[in-house]
Amino acid sequence: MSGAGNFHVAIIMDGNGRWAQLRGLPRSAGHVQGAKTVRRIVEASARAGIGTLTLYAFSSDNWGRPGQEVDSLLHLLQCYLAGETRRCVRNGVRINVIGRRDRLPSSLVRSIEHSEALTAHCIRMQLRIAVDYSAKHSILEAARRASCNQLSVQAFQHLLAEVDHSVPESGPVDLLIRTGGERRLSDFLLWDCAYAELYFTDRLWPDFGEAELNAALEDFAGRERRFGKVLAETA
Ligand code: FPP
Repeated sequence: MSGAGNFHVAIIMDGNGRWAQLRGLPRSAGHVQGAKTVRRIVEASARAGIGTLTLYAFSSDNWGRPGQEVDSLLHLLQCYLAGETRRCVRNGVRINVIGRRDRLPSSLVRSIEHSEALTAHCIRMQLRIAVDYSAKHSILEAARRASCNQLSVQAFQHLLAEVDHSVPESGPVDLLIRTGGERRLSDFLLWDCAYAELYFTDRLWPDFGEAELNAALEDFAGRERRFGKVLAETA
């Protein structure tokens, strides 16, 4: 993947709960293991030359989970930021948390702002972590902010980025990976995935590794992307 600086991979990290249940452990243990996979996959993605990696860590619908699970997820995110920001700086990884911030604990918002500021100069890879994220909410909020008459696709994208705290703005998703056997988008990056290639695997997120990431990238390399057009030689 070298030379693919703007290549954007998004991942729906599914299967933590089942991973834990299969071992007779509480669901939160699956999320702890999932956070370890995040560390491995962030490093593997940088090695693979991915330009932007967006991870779905907490959807707006996840507020509906039991309070204890919500607390453990938000705590894990805070620990991840506290523990990994310096390593990200060393590895040239810029952190950006996308999604709503008005419903997050203020200590988490402070950690997010701190990690974003400390890594703002990093250019090897952009790591976007989606927290309290809902694509439908983002699109609706951008539409509210739009002055409708002569709104271009590009201008709307700027508004979406503003709503999502997406700094710097990222391009469309090239490859969307979902682990855990489900085959749906679950309100994740609906606008950005308009022409994303989709890759689904039964592997549960805690068991996902560099080999499987590389398999997804290889699978992507074999896809024919036409963006609604026809290939030049058949035109
Ligand atoms: C979905 O699996 C996963 C989540 C709702 C949370 C994802 C969070 C992490 C991987 C850890 C924290 C993230 C970071 C960035 C440090 P599920 O629990 O719904 O799985 P199930 O379908 O097996 O129940």
